[in-house]
Amino acid sequence: MDQRFAGKTAIVTGAGRGIGRGVALRLAREGANVVIAEYNAESAEAVAAEIESLGVESMPYAIDISDAGRARRMVEDVAGRFGRIDILVNNAGVVQTKPMMDLTEADWDRIVNVNQRGTFFCLQAVAEQMLRQLPDSLKAAAGLADVVAVQLSADKESSKVEPTELEPSYGKIVNFSSIAGRRGRPLSTHYAATKAAIISITQSAALALAPYRINVNAVCPGIVVTPMWHEIDRDRAALFGAKEGEAVKAFVNTVPLKRAATEDEIAGVVAFLCSSDANYITGQAINVDGGFEMN
Ligand SMILES: NC(=O)c1ccc[n+]([C@@H]2O[C@H](COP(=O)([O-])OP(=O)(O)OC[C@H]3O[C@@H](n4cnc5c(N)ncnc54)[C@H](O)[C@@H]3O)[C@@H](O)[C@H]2O)c1
Repeated sequence: MDQRFAGKTAIVTGAGRGIGRGVALRLAREGANVVIAEYNAESAEAVAAEIESLGVESMPYAIDISDAGRARRMVEDVAGRFGRIDILVNNAGVVQTKPMMDLTEADWDRIVNVNQRGTFFCLQAVAEQMLRQLPDSLKAAAGLADVVAVQLSADKESSKVEPTELEPSYGKIVNFSSIAGRRGRPLSTHYAATKAAIISITQSAALALAPYRINVNAVCPGIVVTPMWHEIDRDRAALFGAKEGEAVKAFVNTVPLKRAATEDEIAGVVAFLCSSDANYITGQAINVDGGFEMN
């Protein structure tokens, strides 16, 4: 496999299982040292051991991403060990299947705190580190203190109508939204709201960080049969008095490609967005859903 990420340091949140584990393994196979930032300390250790067996370094890091202070400490610890952070994959998320009219404040806060707050504060903490890593020339030209001023001056002075050389990227951030972020979901209103918010956060961060050549994008997976989907399936079966497995089948039947995605199919798109092939892509939310959504 190409070693596109040789020597780079990546943090993948929620990488103890499911899609996050798939992303961590994919980045590691392509040469990255990968931090497994995960709520479940045991699964973080297990995935970190798998990663090390691929011949790169790994670091299991027990974290609840909704704790912004812990996210900042993680960034310090990772930068302390590896010297830099090149990639953040903000994958950790939680879901709940419950009719809208039954949602409680506690339900709302749990989902929003992890998915929306956690994603934002991990992004902010890692972006601060990426800004510290900028070459002095870009720091000086950009004037770190004032992003708006940079954007205005970029219009006048530093735009390159005909680029003569490829610009490097100084960091790649990929956030996990979902097709649930594309339209309402009466059985997971709070989850869908956080996934729509993640698209908005991705766009804002892409604009704020563009002057520093830090790319921020999102992926919107359709269905991947991970432990999260098993949970959704069980909850739907209980709600509708159906058999387990029926919700997954019914959903897959609505996907134009008529199948779920593999974890590696999502990981491949994330790896592309983290690679230099995607240096000119920022602020995008890419559906990886077998054709389910087309906007
Ligand atoms: N599976 C799908 O079909 C699907 C579809 C669309 C979007 N997504 C999104 O993809 C991402 C991964 O989904 P998955 O299916 O692999 O989920 P999963 O539940 O199988 O795995 C999520 C991982 O995140 C960890 N995690 C949960 N809360 C955390 C926290 N507060 N701090 C740190 N780690 C935490 C869990 O321990 C777990 O290891 C999620 O953001 C999810 O919303 C999944």
